[in-house]
Amino acid sequence: MVKKIHGGDIYTDRGLPAGTVLLDFSANLNPLGMPQAVQDALCRDVRAYQSYPDPQCRELRRAVGQYHGIPAEWVVCGNGAADVIWRLVLNQKPRRALLPAPAFSEYADALESVDCAISYYDLPMAKQFVPDDGFLKALLPGIDICFFCNPNNPTGIAMESGWIHRLMARCRETGTLLVLDECFTDFLEEEERYSALPFLRDFPGTVILKAFTKMYAMAGIRLGYGICADERFVAGIQQTGQAWSVSTPAARCGIAALSQRDFVARTKRLIAQERAFLQAGLAACGLKVYDGRANYLFLKAPVLDLPQRLEQLGILIRSCGNYRGLDRSYCRVAVRDRADNIRLLEGIRRVLEIQTASKADEGSEEKWQNRL
Ligand SMILES: Cc1ncc(COP(=O)(O)O)c(C=O)c1O
Repeated sequence: MVKKIHGGDIYTDRGLPAGTVLLDFSANLNPLGMPQAVQDALCRDVRAYQSYPDPQCRELRRAVGQYHGIPAEWVVCGNGAADVIWRLVLNQKPRRALLPAPAFSEYADALESVDCAISYYDLPMAKQFVPDDGFLKALLPGIDICFFCNPNNPTGIAMESGWIHRLMARCRETGTLLVLDECFTDFLEEEERYSALPFLRDFPGTVILKAFTKMYAMAGIRLGYGICADERFVAGIQQTGQAWSVSTPAARCGIAALSQRDFVARTKRLIAQERAFLQAGLAACGLKVYDGRANYLFLKAPVLDLPQRLEQLGILIRSCGNYRGLDRSYCRVAVRDRADNIRLLEGIRRVLEIQTASKADEGSEEKWQNRL
């Protein structure tokens, strides 16, 4: 079976010594874990799960609408943000798409499933992968759909809303549906400087994607949503795919999560502090670290097999070698709490020291294994 590669694979047997507790830096989840209020909502009155969920997710959509100050009719919920991507693509069946590269792989996977022809815009490596106006110029009439992730996964680069507004305007000119993936904007310290939400009313051809997955550490629950001012378009996505894509427990967790404003504020402070710590520590190890603003950092290691070496120490990081345009030296690590971040930095130091020693000392591989 061909395997999709994403972070968060804690299930594969890696042949590590029994009892090894994996430290997962490969999935970008809130290090504070799932808020207590969400856990309580999940466990309350479980007999309600005997009934079918509301296929229209009315209560959840109302709560999301209130949270963002928008009508509930603008909201479509799904089994994670990935489900919204797939249902949207299935509903639209676009013929031509523009994607930046590197970017989240589900966009291309979903588009390929409907035989859409994809043009890629390679984000300029020489300019630290910061999107430039070349991307706007690559948006030509005839392109039906464009995905743009802000802050981008895997680079963490965040574009300010002025530039995003230009992207929205360009898409309006070319008649291109713009899917703006804002699944990580919640982690930005000044979210309002980056989010396109205030522009949505004037741009019914733009959809914003959001996830509960990352901020509320609800990856296993599966809940995400799309927001768009075109209510007919929203209803169309809602009716595409199976009827019950959001379970009752997921909807309840989402409603509980939206009340956790203090938790979000605490998370933003923690991430800002720990990202700076990790960024400095990684650079001190000799890695090139990009200017990521989210709850993960994108880096280039001086070795090609850093993820494999760390894995043997029980630490998972995301190799970015399968992203278009990147080789195996590029990796992504989540920002976790101080104790975990120190463990990651120690692991990296150990790998690189052994690597250096091994270079000086032939027959390295066997010795490397013995030294771990
Ligand atoms: C940029 C981006 N968008 C969407 C998703 C999908 O999120 P979910 O787990 O809610 O389906 C991910 C997951 O990693 C992501 O990185």
